[in-house]
Amino acid sequence: MKAYAIIVAAGKGERFGGKTPKPFVFLGDKPIIAHTIEKFEKAKSIKGIILVVRNHWKERTRKIVEEYDFKKVVRITGGGDRRQDSVLKGLKRIPEDVGIVAIHDGVRPFISTDMINKTVLLCQRLDAVVVGVPSKDTVKITEGNFVINTPDRKNTFLAQTPQVFYYNQLFQAYKQYNNNHDFTDDSQVIEKMGIRPFLLTGSYDNIKITTREDFEFAKSNILKLGSSATGVKKKRGRKKKQKPEAVVEIKKRGRPKKVTLDETPDKPKKRGRPKKITTATDSEKPRKRGRPKKTTTDKKPAARKRSSKNKK
Ligand code: C5P
Repeated sequence: MKAYAIIVAAGKGERFGGKTPKPFVFLGDKPIIAHTIEKFEKAKSIKGIILVVRNHWKERTRKIVEEYDFKKVVRITGGGDRRQDSVLKGLKRIPEDVGIVAIHDGVRPFISTDMINKTVLLCQRLDAVVVGVPSKDTVKITEGNFVINTPDRKNTFLAQTPQVFYYNQLFQAYKQYNNNHDFTDDSQVIEKMGIRPFLLTGSYDNIKITTREDFEFAKSNILKLGSSATGVKKKRGRKKKQKPEAVVEIKKRGRPKKVTLDETPDKPKKRGRPKKITTATDSEKPRKRGRPKKTTTDKKPAARKRSSKNKK
């Protein structure tokens, strides 16, 4: 089952300010969005990446893809007014061999490659997977300035990304609900279909860089992005063997069940010849073996039929 990632980075960044859109601000040695793409580029479970950016930043994005030699990026497309509109645009531009789709915020560069792989593998067993962290504070539900409810803290989590789904289910949910509802994450869209996503506990490090304070925090945690962000050279010698599998505890009702994910470690990327990137409005066909890949920056979305065979 082929998994693609949609990285959305077409926000206005009003809470951040400044002339340069947030995803393109440098964090250490490269733009925030380049750190994020790199994590998906290295994740073995991801076949291809669709980038959604503001229309007038498509060309800049293409240059970043070229400069950092991101081989998995197959489309660069323009975003919409709301985050959910940007996601829908990405969903419409995904190659036809997609089975699973991982949606991720472009301004969450601290996501780990292991976590990406884990979510994709888990999604194949459970319908949908959402990464989140237990809320440390007590959450209050309010109306105006008044508290009307206090959910039990042990049941409250803060949702992050990636959020991973079967493509056909998510696309169907988006077609049905996008126009008439406002959502702040993709899980809400699929929940409307009666699906209960599995909440996978992630890391507090996986912050969404929203404000200047978040950016300062990100800068002070730059080492957590990995050695490539700091210019620190990797130690030579034999690589420490990675764990071949991951175990995730699934609690439904009753006794918790442990699910073992057969996860093979990610191999370091081979150095190849530089990829040629075009800005042509290209066909949507998946890449064939042996033929050179083109990254396209879309001018307009093409209408096309999609097969419904690839669910499970
Ligand atoms: O607005 P919010 O903080 O939820 O944004 C999360 C992610 O969604 C960011 O990476 C942002 O660039 C992206 N986004 C988008 N299109 C929008 C609004 C937000 O791609 N219209």
